[in-house]
Amino acid sequence: MKLFDVYPLINIEPVKAEGSYVFDSTGTRYLDLYGGHAVISIGHTHPYYVQKISEQLNKIAFYSNSVIISLQQELADKLGAVCGHPDYELFLCNSGAEANENALKLASFHNGKKKIISFKKGFHGRTSLAVAVTDNPSIVAPVNQTENSILLPWNDEKALEEAFANHEISSVIVEGMQGVGGVHVASESFLRKIRSLCDQNNAVYIADSVQCGYGRSGKFYSHDFAGVSADIYTMAKGMGNGFPVAGIIIAPHIKSKHSLLGTTFGGNHLACAAAIAVLDVIVKENLMENAATMGAYLMKEVAQIPGVKEVRGRGLMIGIELEIPCNDIRNALLMEHKIFTGSSSDKNTIRILPALNLGKAECDTFLNAFRTVMNKVLVK
Ligand SMILES: Cc1ncc(COP(=O)(O)O)c(C=O)c1O
Repeated sequence: MKLFDVYPLINIEPVKAEGSYVFDSTGTRYLDLYGGHAVISIGHTHPYYVQKISEQLNKIAFYSNSVIISLQQELADKLGAVCGHPDYELFLCNSGAEANENALKLASFHNGKKKIISFKKGFHGRTSLAVAVTDNPSIVAPVNQTENSILLPWNDEKALEEAFANHEISSVIVEGMQGVGGVHVASESFLRKIRSLCDQNNAVYIADSVQCGYGRSGKFYSHDFAGVSADIYTMAKGMGNGFPVAGIIIAPHIKSKHSLLGTTFGGNHLACAAAIAVLDVIVKENLMENAATMGAYLMKEVAQIPGVKEVRGRGLMIGIELEIPCNDIRNALLMEHKIFTGSSSDKNTIRILPALNLGKAECDTFLNAFRTVMNKVLVK
């Protein structure tokens, strides 16, 4: 049987990984500044993470949500403390799209309304509603199209006010920093406007923190920079450091009811063990502080490199917009300097999404390689 061909592949097969590095079958080492789409948060094969998952695997890997799984409560307690919302409630699932799908659905159950506001260049996943509110018509199948989706310009408060004036809005879904769209940071006043319009109109503020959350920005949620609380936060990617686990946390005024949401795999023993290990490491190794420090250093240095038009982001979620398309630059970084970086939907923007325990030495390796590659291109 052949694989269904939906991914353009890089001709490298990582077979081993450690910290911020991956190794191919010939032993070549690559600096991983992409973490397989922002997934690697505490570093590849972190020993504590490997130990916790292995121990759990030897006890029990899975049972369904029809029984007590006390690891879920341990995860909820630890997450509540780290994210600063101990009064919220946790629902566990398996992927970012599923987290957003549940959040959008829950908002509509809560207020009985249908219209969803999302934003240009936003990405929320590939399931039915998540893709319907994603700004990429090429991944929206005819069956996903819905008139309940209202797509507005980014950081445009006037457009938001008009949409609320003209429609019954159920929810607003917004990334604190757009990832796939090329790392565009939501202005603090924009997020505060979303908060106040949702309050005034009984709408639900959904903070899509699938990519920009879990400490990557230097704060647990990048929405925290605006000093607002969302009604629902969605999380995935960094939550399991590679183990598929996702979740939403829900403000106390949104009430649960049996069978309102559900899942077979979500919150299984292994997923919880992985997510607990990640949180333990984030706290114990001060990874949010490290993300803020290393991110600020990288952004300051990158901005001085000729050919760089703009550097956007916070912490270790960085978009480097070049004056030229970035494809050849990324290729040279990978093939000549053995450094993985990410692309985005903007052809000129490179995404940097490393593990949150990236060291200064790794930052300097990248900066030197990037300077060399850019110099070569500019003198051509
Ligand atoms: C902001 C955001 N939301 C949702 C998703 C979807 O996550 P998943 O691929 O785990 O379904 C992504 C994935 O890139 C994302 O970046």
